[in-house]
Amino acid sequence: MLIQTERLLLREVEESDFDAIHAYASDPEVVEHMAWGPNTEQATRDFITNCRSKIQSDPRLEYVVAVVPKGQSELVGTVGIYLPSGHAHSAMLGYAFGREVWGKGIASEAVRPMLEVAFDVLRLDRVWASCDPDNGASARVLQKLGMSLEGHLRHDQNIRGVLRDSLVWGMLRNEWLNPFETEEFL
Ligand SMILES: CC(C)(COP(=O)(O)OP(=O)(O)OC[C@H]1O[C@@H](n2cnc3c(N)ncnc32)[C@H](O)[C@@H]1OP(=O)(O)O)[C@@H](O)C(=O)NCCC(=O)NCCS
Repeated sequence: MLIQTERLLLREVEESDFDAIHAYASDPEVVEHMAWGPNTEQATRDFITNCRSKIQSDPRLEYVVAVVPKGQSELVGTVGIYLPSGHAHSAMLGYAFGREVWGKGIASEAVRPMLEVAFDVLRLDRVWASCDPDNGASARVLQKLGMSLEGHLRHDQNIRGVLRDSLVWGMLRNEWLNPFETEEFL
């Protein structure tokens, strides 16, 4: 998989991405609202091994891409779409970026083409994501992409021993195809 946007290149994760992935995945501030991390080196190695193993799987159920700013060699984050099975009609979206690139529109620019993959290539009917209610930046990314807030799950996550709520966001195929008819599209 190789995707270009105005400022970014999205490509498969490689073994040589270890340092760049570990830099953000081991950062307590980056993983503050995530159920995983801060990563040990072994956890980052396992993540990369899993990403690599999924590339060749048939059917492919996980599409995790490295997000590399054009003109740079190192990735600044990853975006993934995860299908529960080979017959799935829906997929979950997830993403994380290093703090040095926050607030520049990078996540929004990187996630949008992955929605294209989900809806236009994989022909899925639904993409969903969840975020901590305190993760305002992630909620805003999902809102800017045109996703609808579908629910608030209480004590859905156990984040390092603390029970946390989740906001669930979703987009349906018809909303992707007709974005301006979606009530919450901004
Ligand atoms: C969440 C995350 C992906 C956002 O990345 P980003 O590149 O900064 O996102 P963007 O710049 O595309 O958009 C961020 C938006 O949130 C807004 N924002 C930032 N902090 C905010 C806050 N505390 N409350 C509300 N909105 C906030 C920004 O102003 C921007 O909106 P705007 O374009 O309308 O001004 C990034 O902070 C991150 O990787 N965090 C750690 C991992 C994580 O939380 N992943 C998501 C798990 S659900």
